[in-house]
Amino acid sequence: MTAFHDLLARPLRSLRLSVTDRCNLRCSYCMPEEEYAWLPKRDILSFEEMGRLAEIFVALGVDKLRITGGEPLIRRDLEKLLAELARIPGVQDLAMTTNGILLAEKARLLKDAGLHRLTVSLDSLDPERFRRLTRRDDLDRVLVGIDAMIDAGFENSKLYTVVIRGTNEDEILSLLDFAREKQLELRYIEYMDVGGATAWSREQVVTRGEILRTIEKAHGPVEPILEPHSTAPADGFLLADGTRFGVISSTTEPFCGSCDRSRLTADGTWFLCLYARTGVDLRSPIRAGWSKDQLAGLIRRSWMAREDRGAEQRLEQEGRQALAGAEEMKANPHLEMHTRGG
Ligand code: GTP
Ligand code: 5AD
Ligand code: SF4
Repeated sequence: MTAFHDLLARPLRSLRLSVTDRCNLRCSYCMPEEEYAWLPKRDILSFEEMGRLAEIFVALGVDKLRITGGEPLIRRDLEKLLAELARIPGVQDLAMTTNGILLAEKARLLKDAGLHRLTVSLDSLDPERFRRLTRRDDLDRVLVGIDAMIDAGFENSKLYTVVIRGTNEDEILSLLDFAREKQLELRYIEYMDVGGATAWSREQVVTRGEILRTIEKAHGPVEPILEPHSTAPADGFLLADGTRFGVISSTTEPFCGSCDRSRLTADGTWFLCLYARTGVDLRSPIRAGWSKDQLAGLIRRSWMAREDRGAEQRLEQEGRQALAGAEEMKANPHLEMHTRGG
């Protein structure tokens, strides 16, 4: 296969597969509403359909797959899909993002199915705050899930914390201590104005600079880890004692210039940018019996026409506010982060 690029010379390397738009938490920055419009059941791709599409993407050059949701672990028999994806030759990295609620039950099955890495979201270590932030009293389950992940032998796994002013910025240091104790890398994420973050405001964003200053005050100078060819959104840092952590500054210093990722929703809509308003329908063609070559052609042509740089464009916007309002998202659930994959 000859390599192909989009209009900004970016290759297609990473695919996030959302296996469900549903979730068993209600994080305030993602699912603040009481009610949601869910994707119709009949539209949700079967594992067989997802596997076929993944195989085509990999044949086109994708070598990183990340399973997300909603919460991926609520999709029944997920390990069967993972086993299929792990078998595709050319998949170098098979990772999953989860909120950890179901990890204690599933960690071993996931490992046996061939999953390489996990990322667990953890925004607070305080049970009462966790309950307020997620509207579920489930911090203990997440903590037990993290231990189960470690016991199952996953390496290179990470914890992710969205830092929000007035909510959890006072836990920057305690979360780092916790991650260090568990020998996991913590990545801080700037609060983004995307999907369900309808209450987003610039003032609530704790920037990379602020996060680093808080850590330096407590631990002394931090050293950046230079990875010149990395396309990962996280910048890595080291403390003097060797502790590694990362910061994802998607809001204040976006990384669109090297973005090689796209996302497939559970109903087979392919988004070429986290901020894109529309996606490419791959469900109808696959259900209409298109051949592999026809589907590959559609994917390739769409990617070659891509010029999205959503996060950078938003940076240029005056009076920046949330990308979409609650009513707009009810009418078009694809705008939700829990639909297009966190
Ligand atoms: P590794 O594969 O371990 O390097 O993970 P990663 O750093 O690539 O992280 P991941 O893909 O899980 O993304 C982490 C966070 O980065 C997300 O929760 C978002 O906050 C942000 N992010 C992910 N994808 C995009 C994207 O396409 N655009 C922007 N602006 N931010 C993104
Ligand atoms: N800002 C930053 N990250 C977000 N996520 C979801 N919504 C947002 C947002 N508004 C990401 C977080 C979370 C994952 C599931 O999705 O990384 O841990
Ligand atoms: Fe929270 Fe993720 Fe569920 Fe959204 S999809 S409510 S961020 S756990």
